[in-house]
Amino acid sequence: MSELPEDQLRQCGQSHLIDVWKSLEEPARSRFAAELCSIDWSRIERLWRRGISSESSAATQKIQSPRALIRLPETEGQRQEWAAARQAGRDLLAAGRAACIVVAGGQGTRLDFDKPKGMFPVGPLSGKSLFQWFAEQLATRERHAGQTIPWIIMTSNATHSETVAFFEEQSFFGRAPETTTFVCQGTMPAVDAKTGEALLEGPGQLALSPDGHGGLLDALERDKMFDRLAELGIDTLFYHQIDNPTTRVCDPAFLGWHLREEADVSTKVVEKIAAAEKMGIAVERDGVSCIIEYSDLPDEFANQTDARGRLEFWAGNTAIHVFRREFLESVARSESGLPFHCARKKVPYLDDEQRLVTPDEPNGMKFERFIFDVIPAAKKALFVQGNRKEEFNPIKNASGSDSPETSRSALLALHKRWLVEAGIPVPDDARIEIAPVVATTAEELRDAIPRIRQPVSGDVILDASTLAPE
Ligand code: UD1
Repeated sequence: MSELPEDQLRQCGQSHLIDVWKSLEEPARSRFAAELCSIDWSRIERLWRRGISSESSAATQKIQSPRALIRLPETEGQRQEWAAARQAGRDLLAAGRAACIVVAGGQGTRLDFDKPKGMFPVGPLSGKSLFQWFAEQLATRERHAGQTIPWIIMTSNATHSETVAFFEEQSFFGRAPETTTFVCQGTMPAVDAKTGEALLEGPGQLALSPDGHGGLLDALERDKMFDRLAELGIDTLFYHQIDNPTTRVCDPAFLGWHLREEADVSTKVVEKIAAAEKMGIAVERDGVSCIIEYSDLPDEFANQTDARGRLEFWAGNTAIHVFRREFLESVARSESGLPFHCARKKVPYLDDEQRLVTPDEPNGMKFERFIFDVIPAAKKALFVQGNRKEEFNPIKNASGSDSPETSRSALLALHKRWLVEAGIPVPDDARIEIAPVVATTAEELRDAIPRIRQPVSGDVILDASTLAPE
């Protein structure tokens, strides 16, 4: 049975938890004690104190655009460089040196979807889920590479069991189950922003929330994934978020640039469409590459324009990265690890009368780690520009910008354009969905054209089943 860390709780302003513990019956009492023991309360107190005092310090620092930035090609010479990078990425995939990580632990509150976001239907005509969309992309990449690409899915307490059950139900989307690994990120207690006291969501139940996508590092280390990947000969990790179906999974050109530039970490950036857009930006702060999150970016920087009136800090973070495995492992094993960010959020809590209160205003403080905070630790951090229309169409909000509607329309527009570019006539009113297992780019689609056996008009899903066999 766990001893209650009474002294630590008192010293760290959490005496109320001792009273809660006393009010519980077994076995809830022991469970609660064990949970309280597993938390470093002095760290929670430190983070809360920092959270209430923190002002954005970006204003006092020198911020400039990143120098290690590869732009989209404009000249013939640049196109050749990109082609060489693409080939280097293909060679890396063919050598079986890459794995793919998707972070899918977020709770999708902004989307009003009560299941894991990966189960959200994104196929504009098929209704395929985001998980299936990415599984099919990976299958295409594997087919071209002639290699299995291990798939690591980061879940959280909030999404783990439903995600695993969904994969089982869907027979792992045709993948051999042993090529897919789930790692579950950790949690952090939320505290009352005014007092720093841990909030409860039920009797003897702390209000816990996922520890941010930076929790990936602890989760990989805890499950011995770094060692397992090393044993498989994998030295390069492609990382992306679950919310953007136009992420080019294991994009050969991006992997190739990362290799050629000998980067520890590479980040795909796209041009921001507005100063106030909710995207982190890639910069150098006091000469060190990093991403400044949109919530930390003072307006004076966000609005700054160059001589031609364009945003000075235009390089929006798509949250698509490539990591050198050994670099990520070294950060995961370093003493300090990633820093925590503090955010004021609405956190439902039990009041003194044991009633569950759903606040209208932010009442609590949550603590999260961000994966992009590895960037300042890199010897070489690279930024590579992507084509926004082709590669960044995330689903974040239930309606308006970055919503299911904007994302699905972007997919339809893209797929129609790929066909037209490949020389296939498409009537204006036709709606086309190209399954990622068929093609993930215009170039790949051109190879599949001879196998299309139906006229392209009306609503068409070009799927493995609608193509003639190879
Ligand atoms: C994020 C980036 C922002 C970037 C934008 C691009 C952060 C802090 N900010 O913003 O710089 O420009 O994406 O789309 O990341 N997730 C977890 N576990 C968690 C929290 C989140 O797995 O504990 C996953 C979510 O499932 C989701 C992704 O991380 O896939 C993004 O999280 P979210 O909080 O929605 O970040 P954004 O505000 O969209």
